[in-house]
Amino acid sequence: MIITFGTQKGGTGKTTLAIAFANYVAMSSERKVNVFDFDFQKSFYHKWKEDELLEIPKLYDVEIIDEENEQPFSDFEHLIEMKESEDVNVFDL
Ligand SMILES: Nc1ncnc2c1ncn2[C@@H]1O[C@H](COP(=O)(O)OP(=O)(O)OP(=O)(O)O)[C@@H](O)[C@H]1O
Ligand SMILES: [Mg+2]
Repeated sequence: MIITFGTQKGGTGKTTLAIAFANYVAMSSERKVNVFDFDFQKSFYHKWKEDELLEIPKLYDVEIIDEENEQPFSDFEHLIEMKESEDVNVFDL
């Protein structure tokens, strides 16, 4: 499945909610969580990197999606695979 956090308005709590949601699902479910950070500010990614300094287990990976790294979304079939997958794919827009 794909769960997207998005609104046109900035600063409304998308990233904060996406982090809380990803942490919750990773800790309370058997499903694999994958996070894709589409924000040019890379807020989710930076927060996740900060957590690496703490001695806590890593719950999931965060991938940056920008002009240089858009491979997972360059073909529609891959997107459909993500949608139909058992994994929880979190998009932070
Ligand atoms: N439920 C909440 N209550 C109070 N403050 C919040 C809440 N959710 C987020 N904030 C604060 O609001 C600010 C913006 O939150 P956040 O970065 O999650 O928004 P965003 O929608 O991802 O922003 P952007 O559009 O820049 O990506 C942050 O300082 C965050 O700490
Ligand atoms: Mg954000």
